[in-house]
Amino acid sequence: MKRRAAMFPGATLQEIAAMNDNRLIRPARADDLKGILAFQRAAIAAINPRTYSAEARDAWARLPAAGMQELVASGRYLVAEIGARLAGGAGWEPLDEPDQAAAVRAVFVHPDLHGRGLGARLVGAVEALIAAAGRRRILVPAALNTVSFYQRLGYVANEMAVAALDGADLRYRRMWKTAA
Ligand SMILES: CC(C)(COP(=O)(O)OP(=O)(O)OC[C@H]1O[C@@H](n2cnc3c(N)ncnc32)[C@H](O)[C@@H]1OP(=O)(O)O)[C@@H](O)C(=O)NCCC(=O)NCCS
Repeated sequence: MKRRAAMFPGATLQEIAAMNDNRLIRPARADDLKGILAFQRAAIAAINPRTYSAEARDAWARLPAAGMQELVASGRYLVAEIGARLAGGAGWEPLDEPDQAAAVRAVFVHPDLHGRGLGARLVGAVEALIAAAGRRRILVPAALNTVSFYQRLGYVANEMAVAALDGADLRYRRMWKTAA
């Protein structure tokens, strides 16, 4: 019997696993915002409470949608669409640094689809956009639950930092990679 991901009835897990190209990844549109916030909030809610407390996860999930709206409007946010639902997304922004660095932003995959290569493909697609924009150094402000994921993708862990959110401080690790 074919197993189906609970939130993605249009796609069997086998179909998702078999998607070995980037056809499902496209630039986000303004009308994707609701779907983007849905997979982001689901991904944050699924983070182990030993890594981030309920207060920290709630503060993170409450971040104003305006930031995402701006990122989408800039054309620098990609989404993965599976069976007419948004399954994940990732974006980037240029950094004002002398060496023309860029930062990866808002990488999230719906927890129903974790561990099937979608996160790696989204980050790979964003890295290609960064390289095409002529930027060579890539920063990831990595949530502590994602440090191993980014290490798998070739990022090197650097210093810890803290984001002061409304209601909680969120510790993260700055990680760097040179664009291909
Ligand atoms: C981090 C996240 C985007 C990864 O997406 P994903 O689709 O599950 O990741 P992939 O399946 O592409 O994994 C790629 C590789 O990283 C590994 N990996 C993924 N998550 C990992 C984790 N938390 N710890 C260790 N390794 C991990 C996978 O095993 C895989 O390794 P492989 O190439 O040897 O098979 C996803 O787990 C997520 O949305 N997490 C919660 C939200 C979050 O914290 N976002 C970060 C905001 S900065």
